[in-house]
Amino acid sequence: MILGIITLIIVLIIIAFLTTGFYIMIFGGGPFVPTPLPAVHKILEYADIKKGDKVYDIGAGDGRFIHFAVKDYHAKATGFELDPFVYFLAKLRQWFFSWKGKMVRGNFLKHDISDADIIICYMMPKSLAKFQKKFEKELKKGTKIISYAFHIGSLKPKKIIPKKGKVSKIFLYKI
Ligand SMILES: C[S@@+](CC[C@H](N)C(=O)[O-])C[C@H]1O[C@@H](n2cnc3c(N)ncnc32)[C@H](O)[C@@H]1O
Repeated sequence: MILGIITLIIVLIIIAFLTTGFYIMIFGGGPFVPTPLPAVHKILEYADIKKGDKVYDIGAGDGRFIHFAVKDYHAKATGFELDPFVYFLAKLRQWFFSWKGKMVRGNFLKHDISDADIIICYMMPKSLAKFQKKFEKELKKGTKIISYAFHIGSLKPKKIIPKKGKVSKIFLYKI
């Protein structure tokens, strides 16, 4: 009996996990695919973060950009994460590595990001093209946007770092 209930709970959790991931893949900015760590460090280097800069990862996954932006650059970093399971993973990592950044569970589109100095994104190009409007409307002049692997709609990048080994293209923008 108890084994049956436990099995049912596990099956329900797996179904909820898969359904949420599928929903975010279709209606959000794309599924959780972590940026390889060498690329995380390269991107943060190119971001040229100054102490106290406000850094947002608009789909933060397990929070790896937030972790290193705070630890290595002393940024005020916030990550938004739509998927509750992935958010939970980020909170676990945060607890394990005890980094200080902020993780917010929710859709970044519903949040004001106008005070950002730097935006980091790794999202599907179709979604990025939709997000372009929010960036142009909300972000202050001089805000840097760094997109891993994909370009952002019709925004003109200031620089494109070509793919090198396992690190995909990096697109650097300035509003
Ligand atoms: C490709 S992963 C990148 C994760 C992390 N930034 C990294 O580079 O390792 C994209 C993440 O964005 C999340 N996401 C998609 N749309 C979102 C939205 N509108 N608001 C917040 N998070 C979103 C997904 O759940 C997924 O975890």
